[in-house]
Amino acid sequence: MTTNVGERQESPDGSRPPTRRLDGQGAIVTGGARGIGLGIAQRLSKEGCRVVLWDRSFEAFDAAAAGFSPASLQIVNVADYGQVEQAFAASEQALGTIDILVNNAGINGPVAPTWEYPLEAWDRVLAVDLTGVFYCCRAVVPHLRARGYGRIVNVASIAGKEGNQGIAAYAAAKAGVIGFTKSLARELVDSGVLVNAIAPVLTETDLFREMTPEHIALARSRIPMGRTLQVPEVAAMVAWIASPECSFSTGFVFDLSGGRATY
Ligand SMILES: NC(=O)c1ccc[n+]([C@@H]2O[C@H](COP(=O)([O-])OP(=O)(O)OC[C@H]3O[C@@H](n4cnc5c(N)ncnc54)[C@H](O)[C@@H]3O)[C@@H](O)[C@H]2O)c1
Repeated sequence: MTTNVGERQESPDGSRPPTRRLDGQGAIVTGGARGIGLGIAQRLSKEGCRVVLWDRSFEAFDAAAAGFSPASLQIVNVADYGQVEQAFAASEQALGTIDILVNNAGINGPVAPTWEYPLEAWDRVLAVDLTGVFYCCRAVVPHLRARGYGRIVNVASIAGKEGNQGIAAYAAAKAGVIGFTKSLARELVDSGVLVNAIAPVLTETDLFREMTPEHIALARSRIPMGRTLQVPEVAAMVAWIASPECSFSTGFVFDLSGGRATY
């Protein structure tokens, strides 16, 4: 198969997706009201996918600015299994069939050394960032297995690979997401359902508000390319992992670190 030059010259803002390789597919994107999740949803939609957004709040979601029409908006706390089950049932109704699950919802939590880290914040971060991923997979995987096809993309973090001072709960949760991704991938290896994760570095989104300037400066200084990651770059990678073109990779953690994590 030849690749035409236009496909290779896709602009980095994601405005010219190379194909409509997701035509007719259905996706759930958690934490899709803003930031990375919204960028992923926009990209999947541009590639022909119908997308249901899950989020705990849609106050930040501007339908006109989003540039696409979600098949449904589900207000759901991914850390509450009852809510996840309800949102899944509603999404199944809205989409008919679901092909893609992007577990993107996450919180950063406070920045504090472990010996001062608020106990409540540890529980909250683990509940959303790790247990939430398990809950969403727990609810959606039976549907994907029954169809014999699916793509799950879990949004981890470079912090889950390398650790990061001051955000031990976040790093532990993201490391947990990586271990969970590898385990679920093995469980589903003969089912047609592929499970992968991405490990982005610092990306410019609203999570910045929860970070101190020192933390942001330190994170940027560790990125060899000398800049932060842009949301369309994340979305482009996720769109490929979520597509049928990704056919022989499962249980893998795809790097988005500007040359930092060369392993
Ligand atoms: N921004 C970065 O630098 C960066 C780097 C690596 C990984 N990540 C990960 O990418 C993902 C998205 O981050 P972002 O920067 O777009 O953050 P963001 O805060 O802009 O967006 C996160 C979205 O998740 C939603 N959300 C939070 N808790 C939820 C819950 N309990 N149930 C449902 N929805 C919930 C929020 O309402 C929000 O819309 C997160 O998992 C984050 O850990 C971010």
